[in-house]
Amino acid sequence: MKTVTVNASVSYKILIEKGLLKNAGKYIKECFGEVKLCIVTDDTVDALYASAVEAALTSEQLPFIKFVIPHGEASKNAENLVSLLELMAENRLTRADAIIALGGGVVGDLAGFAAGIYLRGIRFVQIPTTLLAMVDSSVGGKTAIDLKAGKNLAGVFHQPSLVLCDPNALNTLPSNVFSDGCAEVIKYGIINDRELFDTLKLGIRENIEEIIERCVSNKAHIVELDEFDNGTRQLLNLGHTVGHAIELCSSFTVSHGSAVAIGTVIATKIAYSLNLCTKTELDETVALISAQGLPTRSPYSASQLAKAATADKKRSGDTINFVIPYGIGNCELMKIKVSDLEEFIMKGI
Ligand SMILES: NC(=O)c1ccc[n+]([C@@H]2O[C@H](COP(=O)([O-])OP(=O)(O)OC[C@H]3O[C@@H](n4cnc5c(N)ncnc54)[C@H](O)[C@@H]3O)[C@@H](O)[C@H]2O)c1
Ligand SMILES: [Zn+2]
Repeated sequence: MKTVTVNASVSYKILIEKGLLKNAGKYIKECFGEVKLCIVTDDTVDALYASAVEAALTSEQLPFIKFVIPHGEASKNAENLVSLLELMAENRLTRADAIIALGGGVVGDLAGFAAGIYLRGIRFVQIPTTLLAMVDSSVGGKTAIDLKAGKNLAGVFHQPSLVLCDPNALNTLPSNVFSDGCAEVIKYGIINDRELFDTLKLGIRENIEEIIERCVSNKAHIVELDEFDNGTRQLLNLGHTVGHAIELCSSFTVSHGSAVAIGTVIATKIAYSLNLCTKTELDETVALISAQGLPTRSPYSASQLAKAATADKKRSGDTINFVIPYGIGNCELMKIKVSDLEEFIMKGI
């Protein structure tokens, strides 16, 4: 078993172990004592893993109810959020009770938001089942739903009390969804962990437990420095400014991981064109990303991307903080004027 502790405004543990799901009840009871739980999951994960979690809770005499949403981003909406809150209220969950988010980032974000606002905040456990959720969304306390105007526009910061990560769950993940998670894994290596980057070259599936541990340790460290996303945490947006623009230009037909992969290559090409990283580092980055079956070239022009990036609903002011790799393992934020963005992105196309 690998354990990572996050010391944010709340301290909590991330437990990582193959086969851990069957002991979920024990770990939840150790953390919370006697509680009633609301399992939130999607229909796909429900069919695959809910029975294991339910059995684990039953064996510890922990009562539970369950809320199942259809799989996919479209479920991260206000209607499902309110239905979940209503279900918990009907079943008289109190502030002593807790939510279990069992699934990918969609379930984690929705369930986390509900935990953040039900009775002004109750505790919750993340049980991530996608690679992206294991290395990224289950840690750090960002929760959200999407609004008609854009993704993740409503949410709260609310840290989980426990994260239970069973890498065996990845065995049933479609390969394209696994690849999407690899884009975020590679991101951690480029941001500040050259050693992790080199481990990834040896194969991600082959070293999955170590890799998840390393990624969440990196994320935990960044969250500890800047829990509320005012500075350092923005480093986690490597590849995301252009990535979000690609998602928007494609009306979300290009997956998040693919878009981030292309965005990461563009950020590295920009760095190379500014003599901030070497050609070898650029080549290594492109090779590692391609090796995961991820794309490396933008189907859109610099002008299309700049237009989409500046239309971002969460952007404010006339500058954008762009994450630039000053070599693999050494990213920094660079302030770019919105008016210069197109020319800047052009260097990476
Ligand atoms: N809160 C954060 O810090 C943060 C960070 C990054 C991303 N996110 C959010 O995360 C979401 C994306 O998460 P995701 O990529 O996990 O998507 P997802 O939750 O939609 O899961 C992807 C698909 O995989 C299926 N699935 C999940 N686990 C499975 C398993 N073990 N076996 C087979 N199928 C499985 C799901 O049913 C779904 O169809 C986005 O909404 C994004 O905004 C949040
Ligand atoms: Zn991402």
